[in-house]
Amino acid sequence: MLHVLNHPLLESKMAILRDKNTSTKDFKEIVDEIAMLVTYEITRSLETKKIYVDTPFETTECKTLATEVLIVPILRAGLGMVDGIRRIIPNAKVGHIGLYRNEKTLEPVQYYFKLPPVNENTTVLLVDPMLATGNSANKGIELIKSKGVKKIIYVGLVGCPQGVKALQDKNPDVEVYLVDLDRELNEIGYILPGLGDCGDRLFGTK
Ligand code: URA
Repeated sequence: MLHVLNHPLLESKMAILRDKNTSTKDFKEIVDEIAMLVTYEITRSLETKKIYVDTPFETTECKTLATEVLIVPILRAGLGMVDGIRRIIPNAKVGHIGLYRNEKTLEPVQYYFKLPPVNENTTVLLVDPMLATGNSANKGIELIKSKGVKKIIYVGLVGCPQGVKALQDKNPDVEVYLVDLDRELNEIGYILPGLGDCGDRLFGTK
């Protein structure tokens, strides 16, 4: 299922990210803030379990997360959202998937894949800010599923109809969270209107 998180705070922050004049420093800070806000929404669907807590007056029933959360950014741009998510879920572990895009075919090529131990109870937040062709997302999902993970939530900033369709056609069981759904993909695989190359803008490489 696709969730597009229309929210006044997120929209205002996205306006700053999209602005080509936003500095690398401000871009990263805003991505951190958005990642925190988005995490609040994503975690709404996580399962909880009962625990008993002693307050200063009596023992009471409370709830705590029943699932282990594993954040898996797709390198490089996915790294930009990890700090914000970890601030909200400090116990989350982090795995990494390294993919680069073959510029001719736009197909992802894997160069790194490492996850901490996972089990059937693990919830993976697969993080990639731009859901463009959907090829990297699908490759990431395939790798994570190959380790036996049953629950995967895709977390991104901007998507386009083509990327969402590609992901949902192949992986209908994966929940997709985006801040904005943009108009289209251009012929070289960038989202329009978009925010440019997210990795370059995060790391100042262009
Ligand atoms: N990756 C990006 O960084 N930007 C896009 O628009 C598409 C893919």
